[in-house]
Amino acid sequence: MRLIIHPNYGEASRWAAYYIAGRINAFKKDRPFVLGLPTGSSPLGIYRELAGLYREKKLSFAAVHTFNMDEYVGLGADHPRSYHRFMAENFFDHIDIDKKNIHLLDGMAKDPGLECRLYEEAIAAEGGIELFLGGMGSDGHIAFNEPGSSLHSRTRIKTLAKETRIANARFFDNDPSGVPATALTVGVGTVMDAREVLIIVSGRAKARALRAVVEEGINHMWTLSCLQMHPRAIIVCDEEATDELRVGTVRYFKDLEKQNLPLSAPEGGACREKAGGE
Ligand code: GLP
Repeated sequence: MRLIIHPNYGEASRWAAYYIAGRINAFKKDRPFVLGLPTGSSPLGIYRELAGLYREKKLSFAAVHTFNMDEYVGLGADHPRSYHRFMAENFFDHIDIDKKNIHLLDGMAKDPGLECRLYEEAIAAEGGIELFLGGMGSDGHIAFNEPGSSLHSRTRIKTLAKETRIANARFFDNDPSGVPATALTVGVGTVMDAREVLIIVSGRAKARALRAVVEEGINHMWTLSCLQMHPRAIIVCDEEATDELRVGTVRYFKDLEKQNLPLSAPEGGACREKAGGE
């Protein structure tokens, strides 16, 4: 696992956006680039940067297919708090992606189990996810894989933890009871199947979870710790998110990654990355 530490959220977001753009531009296969996507505040800076690269004609999403991580049960695509709406407003409406290539779980599905099975099948039919972008909950969860989720889990319905409903209440008039109690979510195993995983972590509220994920062992109570087993995983974070890491850990990763930090803007082709690794 690589840990890439930037002074602030803006620089972390720009680095991640350039990295993703570089991957898309360098993808020379005769199939679409399949991108996994999250919601939440953390990826907003990346979405803004990626939309900017599209406007500057340095990046196109014409050959990109997307699969989102999750959706609340009971919220239709037009609901103002649905992840469908979130993605349209914050990303899809600002890029040249073909709407038929966008995949999100249907929170109104009559048979949620079937919806989840079909989602896994759709990912497989597209050749699997090339790069899964993600955020992390303050309890260390990935997608809606709350503490205690199986690290082999697949797409399914999950009950949301109290901590998650409190954290997400800001989108529901600050009322945790207004946050849906369940969601459809890709599993930890679904994320782990992606050929590459890139996680953005920002702010002090995530510092305790980042410590568990980076410095402690693989543990179902911090589901993102599964990344330790992924052959190609990156966490990009800001300085504040490292507040609970050991000084030595921060120094170690900063030293290891120092020549990788300046990632140049893509020029409609591959963006330069000096080194990479597991
Ligand atoms: C929700 C989402 C996650 C996201 C997390 C953190 O639980 N299902 O995918 O990573 O929130 O959100 P934020 O980035 O707003 O802190």
